[in-house]
Amino acid sequence: MAEAAKKRLAFQKSYSQEHGGSWKHRSLIEDAKFERLTNAEYEKVEKEKERERRASLSEDEEIIEELQFRNGVEDDEDLKTRELQKCTLLLTLRDGLGSLSRILRIFEQHARCSILHIESRQSKKTGALYEVLMLFEATKEAALIIVKALKQSSALHDVISLNESTIPNSVPWFPTHISDLDKCHHLLTKFEPDLDSNHPGFSDPIYRARRTKVAEIAFKYRWGQTIPEVEYTEEDIRTWGVVYRKLKELFPTHASKRHVKVFTLLEKECGYSENNIPQLETVSNFMKKKSGFQLRPVAGLLSARDFLASLAFRVFQCTQYVRHGSEPDHSPEPDCVHELLGHVPMLADAEFAQFSQDIGLASLGAADDDIEKLATLYWFTVEFGLCNEDGQVLAIGAGLLSSFGELMHALSDVPEHRPFVAETTAVQSYQDQDYQPIYFVAESFEDMKERMRKFAANIPRPFEVRFDPYTQRIDVLNNTRDLQTVTKTMREDVTKIHLALNKMTCGTVR
Ligand SMILES: [Fe+2]
Repeated sequence: MAEAAKKRLAFQKSYSQEHGGSWKHRSLIEDAKFERLTNAEYEKVEKEKERERRASLSEDEEIIEELQFRNGVEDDEDLKTRELQKCTLLLTLRDGLGSLSRILRIFEQHARCSILHIESRQSKKTGALYEVLMLFEATKEAALIIVKALKQSSALHDVISLNESTIPNSVPWFPTHISDLDKCHHLLTKFEPDLDSNHPGFSDPIYRARRTKVAEIAFKYRWGQTIPEVEYTEEDIRTWGVVYRKLKELFPTHASKRHVKVFTLLEKECGYSENNIPQLETVSNFMKKKSGFQLRPVAGLLSARDFLASLAFRVFQCTQYVRHGSEPDHSPEPDCVHELLGHVPMLADAEFAQFSQDIGLASLGAADDDIEKLATLYWFTVEFGLCNEDGQVLAIGAGLLSSFGELMHALSDVPEHRPFVAETTAVQSYQDQDYQPIYFVAESFEDMKERMRKFAANIPRPFEVRFDPYTQRIDVLNNTRDLQTVTKTMREDVTKIHLALNKMTCGTVR
């Protein structure tokens, strides 16, 4: 699947070049739009290729593909292996359950096959009466012969192989372990000092060389490594200091109380000060302790899908370079001033971390249209969100919390303030060249979280996902066995709560 993602990316790049290389992305939403367009083209081309490929398959090859054997089928010898495989079939019967005995005989003819589970229900398909779900165990060779015979049986309307543990091929690839984020580093052509003459650093060769050096760290970085330190120059520290001083004055009156609380701790524990740019490794370790979030160095803007996927693992893709010193108040792209002053304090708050992770989890395997909606929601909340806190509207978005000018603008009477409703916010057009004309205000943080959860629940996906913090893996929940595992974990948690309550009650009695 990772290979498929690479192919898709190569297609996007050639598509962009064919269209004059005019795709210059400056925001997550633009990226998501670009991906939706190019993916639609890509799907068209790939569908035709797939149709041609399937037409050239033999009947056996087609069945082997449908069954998706656990270890694949390398050659004929492998097919004859004595290892048993579990297969699930959905059989649609033309007639009543009486014809089931004919079907069962097909299984009985094979010594190396045993039926593990059968259940039936009435069929809603025209021309069919019943559907029978059948789980059986057989050698690969026996399974192939059985399915072939079933497909030829006149008693059956159709035979569908249900693979219990895999995700349908139509679902876009997504990382399932935190180490898979090593594959999610698809930078898009965008506003870079080397490439764009309007970039403030374009005519500054020293700045450009520094940027290249910092970018190297991100390109070489792999999961589990310590984030290398950057030796910031006097100019970098001066630029950081200008922004830091101005924002620190505004935070007590304009920033969310969650932000203010963590910012104080960052000054105490991570060396945040106007004369020092803290290193990502130090900040990342602090965040791990506070909310379980961590940083990962990135060289620029990632594709929307990759960026959102990282959030599912509580990983924030963080730039490490500082904006050009000629424009300290404005950066045409994310830089570490924006990340460290805007994002980090919010992501180190446990509840905001959960909110951000929920957006990430909702994005895994979602269709391009939904990725665009989630990127828009991310934009109007995590980047430019406002929230009512004890009767006062305050900033929660990092785009505001890292920009002196926009922070004042957002909380003034100039822009329009609308209540946050996930369904309408998700399709709102946005501004990435100037201050936003519209901001969405959440009634409360809880309300925003709940609305986002309901929105995410309605994203069409043939499975649900859950992050396992012990293995740092995404569990794909699409069959009863997976649900049983989750239920077991929940039962153990409930038992612990019950025990704790008992102990507390005993303590009170004493
Ligand atoms: Fe950001």
